[in-house]
Amino acid sequence: MGKNNNHKQTLYPSRIDLPENTRAKVVGLLNETLASTLDLKTQVKQAHWNVKGMDFYQLHELFDEMAGELEEFVDMVAERATALGGLAKGTARVAAQDSILPEYPFDILDGKSHVTALADRYAPYAKHIREAIDKSDRWEDKDTADLYTEISRAIDKRLWFLEAHLQAAEVAAAPEKEKVKG
Ligand SMILES: [Fe+2]
Repeated sequence: MGKNNNHKQTLYPSRIDLPENTRAKVVGLLNETLASTLDLKTQVKQAHWNVKGMDFYQLHELFDEMAGELEEFVDMVAERATALGGLAKGTARVAAQDSILPEYPFDILDGKSHVTALADRYAPYAKHIREAIDKSDRWEDKDTADLYTEISRAIDKRLWFLEAHLQAAEVAAAPEKEKVKG
């Protein structure tokens, strides 16, 4: 659990049939996701602006597409929190404070370094989202579980896109028996 869940979650009265206890827990989880998604989006933009090298243009475009996708998730997550009667906490300050991700490196230049830095952040973010599917399902909020499932599928795909840039070299460098697992 991130720092966010130590905060008390604001809950407004609502006619929704989900119990208050469920709503409070789910809103706390959604706010943790909101902070991390905002953080990840700004990190992807950071890569979009600063990547350099002969593969500049395709990475610049790919990173922008990824940032746009994350912006949609930011809105979906925040609005699920408010639909549950919660307060969505989506300022830059809260994002910086409550994100589960490490800060983006400022001393990298080439495409491979940016792709690696983003893969190193998409992976823990994907884990957080997958865990959130189970948590919201356990808390009997199937709609939030469904929202997380949608995000999870998209993030797994993006991690694949990132890792596809790296895997050829990683596989080539691996010892013979470790080249393909299966
Ligand atoms: Fe741009």
